[in-house]
Amino acid sequence: MSGTRKTVTGARALKTRVKKKRGLKNSSRRWLERHLNDPYVHRAQAEGMRSRAAYKLSEIDDKHKLLKPGLRVIDLGAAPGGWCQVAAERVGSDPEKPSVVGIDYLEMDPVPGAVILQMDFLDDEAPQRLMEALGGEPDLVISDMAAPTTGHRRTDHIRTMHLCETAADFAISVLREGGHFLAKTFQGGAENSLLDQLKKNFKSVHHVKPQASRSESVELYLLAKGFKGRPDDGNAYEADDSS
Ligand SMILES: C[S@@+](CC[C@H](N)C(=O)[O-])C[C@H]1O[C@@H](n2cnc3c(N)ncnc32)[C@H](O)[C@@H]1O
Repeated sequence: MSGTRKTVTGARALKTRVKKKRGLKNSSRRWLERHLNDPYVHRAQAEGMRSRAAYKLSEIDDKHKLLKPGLRVIDLGAAPGGWCQVAAERVGSDPEKPSVVGIDYLEMDPVPGAVILQMDFLDDEAPQRLMEALGGEPDLVISDMAAPTTGHRRTDHIRTMHLCETAADFAISVLREGGHFLAKTFQGGAENSLLDQLKKNFKSVHHVKPQASRSESVELYLLAKGFKGRPDDGNAYEADDSS
């Protein structure tokens, strides 16, 4: 049986159903059906984007005007590379001298205009390596990191929140004054201590839910705009700004 669905561009398309007899578990069949019928998946394939997640960053940026030509960006949890693609294009990153650096412990194909580090962001050496690769203070730290799911919801939640908090600490220790921080969190998930820390260090803090983020997903993004700067304007990690 087939139905119709609306594409991102508003056109009507046939709905793909996955037959029960393919030997898939019901939950896997539902995931596959949702994926096959997802207008953002179709759009990503048509436009050569690495992920449907790319549209989450595009939508947030369309509204909040974060990515501007010439800015430097650090992308945490970058694979398969959709956010790096959007960031590199919008800041006009030069492939010969990239101003976007991404990190992920998963291997990913190169993205023109981005340097990719394959390592765990929680590794003690990661912050220094990111700063060396960027060659100066970032104007934006963006994080779409999510911990691999264990099936235990509370554990998954705690692990992703830990990534978000570590990303926030990193952003506060490296951002240029006036810079911004964007990170994946969960509905009802951001601890008050994290929100307090962001409010203390940034001019404004918002929760954002782009349309490309599935409404049934508890995913939410924290956007902290206008970094107030460090008291001594020191940077925790040495990076050669002259390159
Ligand atoms: C939702 S995906 C990111 C999608 C990406 N924004 C895009 O547009 O293609 C989350 C990524 O976070 C990465 N990740 C999770 N924990 C990490 C860690 N500790 N260090 C580096 N990457 C991590 C995962 O490997 C995964 O690739």
